[in-house]
Amino acid sequence: MRSNVLKKAPTWGLILLFFICFQLAAAERPGSAAIATAHPLATAAGHHLLRAGGNAFDAAVGVSAVLAVVEPYSSGIGGGGFWLLHRASDGFETMLDGRERAPLAADRDLYLDQAGKVIPNLSIDGALAAGIPGEPAALAHLARYYGRLSLADSLGPAIRLAREGFKVDSHYRRMAGWRLAVLRAHPASAEQFLQQGEVPVEGTLIKQPDLAETLERIALHGADGFYKGETAQRLVDGVRAAGGIWSLDDLASYRVVERQPIVGRYRGLKITSAAPPSSGGIALVTMLNILQGFDLQSQDEPLRTHLLVEAMRRAYRDRADYLGDPDYVDIPVDALTHPWYAAGMAHDIQLHRASPSVGNIPPAPEGQDTTHFSILDKEGNRVAATLSINYPFGSGFVVPGTGVLLNDEMDDFSASPGVPNVYGLVGGEANAIAGGKRMLSSMTPTFVEDDRRVAILGTPGGSRIITMVLLGILEMADGKGPDSWVERPRFHHQYLPDMIQFEPDAFSDSLKQQLTAMGHNLKPLDRQYGNMHGILWDKREGKVEAASDPRGLGLAQVVKTSSQNRE
Ligand code: GLY
Repeated sequence: MRSNVLKKAPTWGLILLFFICFQLAAAERPGSAAIATAHPLATAAGHHLLRAGGNAFDAAVGVSAVLAVVEPYSSGIGGGGFWLLHRASDGFETMLDGRERAPLAADRDLYLDQAGKVIPNLSIDGALAAGIPGEPAALAHLARYYGRLSLADSLGPAIRLAREGFKVDSHYRRMAGWRLAVLRAHPASAEQFLQQGEVPVEGTLIKQPDLAETLERIALHGADGFYKGETAQRLVDGVRAAGGIWSLDDLASYRVVERQPIVGRYRGLKITSAAPPSSGGIALVTMLNILQGFDLQSQDEPLRTHLLVEAMRRAYRDRADYLGDPDYVDIPVDALTHPWYAAGMAHDIQLHRASPSVGNIPPAPEGQDTTHFSILDKEGNRVAATLSINYPFGSGFVVPGTGVLLNDEMDDFSASPGVPNVYGLVGGEANAIAGGKRMLSSMTPTFVEDDRRVAILGTPGGSRIITMVLLGILEMADGKGPDSWVERPRFHHQYLPDMIQFEPDAFSDSLKQQLTAMGHNLKPLDRQYGNMHGILWDKREGKVEAASDPRGLGLAQVVKTSSQNRE
């Protein structure tokens, strides 16, 4: 009897050990997949690729490419972006920098007249406004080094949609209406995006056969299908014929860069976000470091809002002074993201008094460009990606014979120190134009996590991106889910112009009065802004949630991978 028990003990022990290991492994896998994007067709394409055996990185290739087709006003293969990646098998994290860069022939005076004054719109409309695109190279890199499917498989849904068409919706109409003049000015753009020179009616099918062929060349030849050969020649010929300065060398020498993300901490959460040439991660961590010096939860709303605004003000001041392309300028990243540096700035904040910003510039129109998506697969691989062609419909210039709508990301450089760009952002030497240099961005794809929760989030919205992500993270830190992050009313300060911009109904009358009494200038906005897409995986509860911003037309979908049931 006794010997029997002894003989069986190791067996029971092994079973118990196996059970514990299984539970631990299960806790490290979501078991569900979630995708939140700005367009239902992109979300559907991502889930289709996951079902086909792809991982989050394959889905990210497919989602990026579909967004390039169905949201031509936001991002595209004529633009660029940042893909923040987390690989579940070994915890490896990186940021793919597929940011556009200035043509090699560009110099700091590119947009100045002979008197040294910025020529209006030259960095916004037309071929001269376009940087060398990074998205095609980034998608090829993502598929090759991180995906499981072929690039051709992942580009399949986008190629189909470019060829068969997608339906115009209300947002397309609004964006095309805004950029009607520049789209009309370029025949290939008018043919691709307008109907007899007018904004197409809702439900019109937008077919892009030239774009489908360009995507097919990328599917067949990888990045070379865009940066070399037939596509490259057409791009360079088209740009130069329209007054641009691209060369074949610009395209052939474009490279994706993998960069170490910016990491910070806030109330026990680890924040992982975009590295330069985005200002997003550094500004975000600076703001959170400053706020860590205050007990925000115990403050009333006026004081809490005041403290947030003062943190925003200081982070955007540093943005203008220090940030640019890290391959061209030395950025004191460690100092800027160090809690002690922030403690100095926090010390300088007066509790009931606004600190003035130095300088004066007029308010700029709000950013409605750019797109963001978040992906979590059943293994726990994650992607947060923010992609852009800058202004709605970018430069408005489609290169004839390619279907490629070019960005106007050159406007993200500071054309002249102290002169604001289209978002009212000023910059200095660090972000001056130089041949081959990447322009400073505000895109802020971000992961936030502790032992229990993992969040994936980001949003479009020009200069306001970073403060939107900050507000979303503060919701998460207060224990709220993705619905709250994406829905909450928004406000923003960017040092200059010295004003708090806020969404309609974001501030009560009494809050407005108290902020004004503290010396803040208030700028109520006519419209809501942003289009955030977030995912939360609660490891302890074994639950995955996702949400898309109610301000947009996007779709967040969680799919239980065991049953394929949608939640
Ligand atoms: N073009 C918007 C950004 O990169 O911030």
